[in-house]
Amino acid sequence: MTRPFDVVVIGGGVIGMATAWRAALQGLAVVVVDPQPGRGASWAAAGMLTPVTEAYYGEEDLLRLNLASARRYPSFVAELESASGLQVGYRTNGTLAVAADSGDRAVLEDLHRYQQELGLDSEMVSGRECRALEPMLAPGIRGGLLVAGDHQVDGRALHRALSVAAGLAGVEVRTTAVSEVLVARDRVTGVRLDNGETIAAPTVLLAAGCWSAGMAGVPPDARPPVRPVKGHILRLRSPARRPLLGRNVRGLVAGSHLYLVPRGDGRLVVGATVEEMGFDTTVMAGAVHDLLRDARAVVPGTAELELVESHAGLRPGSPDNLPIMGQSVLPGLAVATGHYRNGVLLAPVTADAMASLLVTGTTPEVIAAFSPRRFTAPVTTEAAP
Ligand code: FAD
Ligand code: GLY
Repeated sequence: MTRPFDVVVIGGGVIGMATAWRAALQGLAVVVVDPQPGRGASWAAAGMLTPVTEAYYGEEDLLRLNLASARRYPSFVAELESASGLQVGYRTNGTLAVAADSGDRAVLEDLHRYQQELGLDSEMVSGRECRALEPMLAPGIRGGLLVAGDHQVDGRALHRALSVAAGLAGVEVRTTAVSEVLVARDRVTGVRLDNGETIAAPTVLLAAGCWSAGMAGVPPDARPPVRPVKGHILRLRSPARRPLLGRNVRGLVAGSHLYLVPRGDGRLVVGATVEEMGFDTTVMAGAVHDLLRDARAVVPGTAELELVESHAGLRPGSPDNLPIMGQSVLPGLAVATGHYRNGVLLAPVTADAMASLLVTGTTPEVIAAFSPRRFTAPVTTEAAP
């Protein structure tokens, strides 16, 4: 016999686990089901919290949400570290985007103009100033864009802490897969697990990252239209255990984007490709080569680091690049997925908003623009001929 649950969360990545924790703190009985919690996209993530450097034209709704989540980070981390007793590597050292040639610099100038139009805080700096900020940068760097407010967290440490805090708040975790969402009389009644066992609950939260669209039992119009977007990412380490860089460095090298995210203990995360390859997670030599080549062009000293890990993860991408969060068209089924390149950044705002929805049944204003219902054909009121 299992105890009665208010909510089954399908997927224990950073989104599912953070939401489970916050919902349990508000008194709900929550179970998370995941065969490998934290080993999806959340395992790959560099952990950049960079809403301003990643602001893209036409994505102002996403920018507002990203900024709202970034503002929550200090208190979220303080509460999480205190609840779990674990550190999550939240570092507020800022981000420097650098240009390898004059074309790349023009792109950064465009981005800077856009940021200024939006009232965001960023500053163009010369190549010389870039090297004064980051002495390990290549001498040929043509200029940069400094964003003091864009930070980082260690995504894997964050997930570990979320799992511990969730457990201490009463969340149960089942390390198996959900085979089917159960529906009776047009509403969700629970889930069936891979081992045939069922868990009954009045509410199911679908937070299975890029696997959410394929969840059996969910009617087609309630399925969030997410797809996997492959990202190769590397983990390097300084033999001296000293960081090569003081802050996140994003590089533009002849139009190619990459980022270097330094941890305090000498580890360096280098990413990432963005590829439409379906569910393939094979690590390809060419992708690893290109990342290392561009990293070396920006910071030559990366060639002297140990290559500790090459990995490919699958981002949950959506048709409009926006997350999909809220109540679906199927009563009892809530959704939190589609966080694409920003799931770590968006964990605090998602977790609090989704927990509030699960407790009150009302969608908080901060996530109203990201409803799963935006993909559902509008109901016509015209009478059939
Ligand atoms: P996931 O972490 O993928 O979790 C989904 C979970 O669902 C998995 O654990 C899986 O096992 C489980 N699952 C699947 N099927 C089932 C089933 N049938 N039953 C039960 N469980 C199931 N974001 C940032 O904010 N900053 C970054 O710097 C950053 N860098 C990134 C770099 C790379 C290379 C990649 C790939 C992503 C990056 N992201 C970053 C994006 C971020 O990783 C994702 O947006 C985020 O991890 C999504 O979290 P999630 O919990 O929705 O999905
Ligand atoms: N946000 C970084 C990535 O998705 O690669």
